[in-house]
Amino acid sequence: MASITYDKATRRYAGSDRPAVDALDLEIADGEFLVLVGPSGCGKSTSLRMLAGLEDIDDGAVWIGDRDVTQLPPRSRDIAMVFQNYALYPHMTVAQNMGFALKIAGRPASEIKQKVLEAAKLLDIEQYLDRKPKALSGGQRQRVAMGRAIVREPQVFLMDEPLSNLDAKLRVSTRTQIAALQRRLGVTTVYVTHDQVEAMTMGDRVAVLSDGLLMQCDTPRALYDRPANAFVAGFIGSPAMNLVTAKLTADGAEVGGARVPLTRETIAAADGDTVTLGFRPEALEVATGDGTLPIKVELVEELGSDAYVYGKLAETDAADNKSNVVARVDPRTPPAMGDTLNLRIRPDELHVFSATSGLRLP
Ligand SMILES: Nc1ncnc2c1ncn2[C@@H]1O[C@H](COP(=O)(O)OP(=O)(O)O)[C@@H](O)[C@H]1O
Ligand SMILES: [Mg+2]
Repeated sequence: MASITYDKATRRYAGSDRPAVDALDLEIADGEFLVLVGPSGCGKSTSLRMLAGLEDIDDGAVWIGDRDVTQLPPRSRDIAMVFQNYALYPHMTVAQNMGFALKIAGRPASEIKQKVLEAAKLLDIEQYLDRKPKALSGGQRQRVAMGRAIVREPQVFLMDEPLSNLDAKLRVSTRTQIAALQRRLGVTTVYVTHDQVEAMTMGDRVAVLSDGLLMQCDTPRALYDRPANAFVAGFIGSPAMNLVTAKLTADGAEVGGARVPLTRETIAAADGDTVTLGFRPEALEVATGDGTLPIKVELVEELGSDAYVYGKLAETDAADNKSNVVARVDPRTPPAMGDTLNLRIRPDELHVFSATSGLRLP
């Protein structure tokens, strides 16, 4: 087992004017389950492939434990990777697929057999060891791919969207199994997904990437409660946090005809005459009086345990798309379409970001 360090690691693809991964600084502890998350094209797979040795590192370095592996070929890095498409050999049985790396390494047949059996028991695929991959379901193939990584007993597991070929229900149960298995084996793991729910439910910590840049790396709780910038604020959470541009005043910000008080410190830190206010759907409550935001209800989504109201701030510039607001309301007394709701932002659940840099203000 080992820790992992990305030290200003950069990857530039030929013909592209900006790096796919830009000076990535990230330290992953021994035994940690770290998730890399972000929208498609943000550099997740490239980051993982740089660690695996499948992609050149143009600047900076990558360390596994106390070894600088930047120049090492993949086979010398002591890692095992699980891909989205599993890449199983179709002509080999499950047992042969799982034991292949050990066979190549010249290990004795009895040892291979024993390790394959142990991993198969762990993954509950013992009864399929003699089958070919085509005779397995998607979920079973996924477990074979996991088993193939486990038998190698690597220092590090790398997984790139390993659940994306499974249907939604199986994805949910498999992600719990993978997280539990990782905790049991204690092998340092870097897991890539574009799905923020998967990231939040699986990771000890989650690193959020955007356009090749690390936006924030922290525990799921901290990302949710204290996003470092407007990007993370909008990316983590479903439905997404409301992000609304508001005009600064002497003692707060003005939005939708309502005044939202801000501390002196926040106002002093703001650059320009606007700020971005962030508030989650559950940070809104129906209220009366000063400081409430009037929302014109356009859609009510009833989910049983919750209801979400989608609407627009009634008194802002109608052309400003950012004035769309989502609020969670009591599912037993949902409003009707066309109603106007007066909503208050709970003061301790308000986030304020610079309208120019997007960074969180104190
Ligand atoms: N082999 C390649 N050659 C050139 N550009 C690439 C290559 N692989 C990925 N890219 C580009 O690098 C960026 C990051 O890609 P990738 O790491 O695959 O993103 P993600 O896995 O987050 O979807 C994207 O803009 C993508 O188009
Ligand atoms: Mg990818």
